[in-house]
Amino acid sequence: MEYTTLGSTDIKISRISLGTWQFSDAWGLKDYSIAKSIIAKALDVGINFIDTAMIYGRGLSEEFIGRALKELNAKREDLVIATKIPGEYLSSDDIFKAIDRSLRRLQVDYIDLLLVHWPPCWHNIPTCSYMRALERVVILGKVNFLGLSDYPVELAESARTCLSRVDIEALQVRFNLVERWAEVEHIPYAEENNMTLMAWSPLGKGALTGKYTIEDTQKLADLRVNEPLFHPDNYKKILELVEVVREVARRYNKTTAQVVLNWLVTYSDIIVPIAGAKSPGQVEENAGAVDWRLSYEDWRLIDDYAKSIRITYVL
Ligand SMILES: NC(=O)c1ccc[n+]([C@@H]2O[C@H](COP(=O)([O-])OP(=O)(O)OC[C@H]3O[C@@H](n4cnc5c(N)ncnc54)[C@H](OP(=O)(O)O)[C@@H]3O)[C@@H](O)[C@H]2O)c1
Repeated sequence: MEYTTLGSTDIKISRISLGTWQFSDAWGLKDYSIAKSIIAKALDVGINFIDTAMIYGRGLSEEFIGRALKELNAKREDLVIATKIPGEYLSSDDIFKAIDRSLRRLQVDYIDLLLVHWPPCWHNIPTCSYMRALERVVILGKVNFLGLSDYPVELAESARTCLSRVDIEALQVRFNLVERWAEVEHIPYAEENNMTLMAWSPLGKGALTGKYTIEDTQKLADLRVNEPLFHPDNYKKILELVEVVREVARRYNKTTAQVVLNWLVTYSDIIVPIAGAKSPGQVEENAGAVDWRLSYEDWRLIDDYAKSIRITYVL
């Protein structure tokens, strides 16, 4: 496994993070023994950076992680656990309550990285009031570092001005070969400010592996029923891109998924893809996406083709 450091800290994180939204109704993986085998494989291949959220499976994901890490005797100091607090839980009372519950589910006494999952859109909680409360939790020792997920850069910038003792160490955003808005502002901003950019849906929820035929996509029975990437108007274009990626993958003796993830890590040294997995085999495969690099020419070949694809969300 290849490692980097979290933001401006000296905390060592694996270059591929394990995404665990899969442990939820949305993705349908609710069997603890499978979840445990996924986590065990992640540790086995050197992944130490685990991404979860308070709302994944309404706490189930955090619960599975806590239980599995205990049963697997994982050393706390070797792990970097990132969890997220949703915009709805950001009143000053709820922040403490939510974090206490998260600590309990994860069976830990501190969280390495706490990200605000999304801004409080519906409750009008002033930015500085919740950012200062989050900073207090860091000062009190229950959280080590803070991050922001799904924040526009302007709001991230103003959230940072509310902090006096700590800074934002990570931004988490959607970023994959065909959903690339992050490259306009988020990536340059993270690069300039020494932040880790955690890329979610790096495999386009599996679409970019090209393993599903158009007919298969009609049978998907999880959250992907409503996922625009799997709509035939978009998915047909994705399958054409996958052909280009597959051809490159053959030359490197890698899989399509590994090249799709490697394209992200080659893009910038601050990018850490959060790859979700449904089986230990997928974790192992995704871990094999790092410790090597695409050549400049192959990176460009994939980049050029991917840029020509226009995904539409109005379907
Ligand atoms: N901050 C946010 O708002 C936010 C939003 C979304 C996700 N996230 C985080 O990012 C993580 C990853 O994003 P994501 O779950 O949306 O999508 P993703 O990582 O792009 O795709 C994950 C899915 O792709 C398939 N897959 C994984 N590895 C594969 C491989 N090697 N070969 C073939 N198929 C493979 C699996 O589904 P099948 O096997 O069923 O096809 C898996 O469930 C989440 O778990 C979560 O931690 C954060």
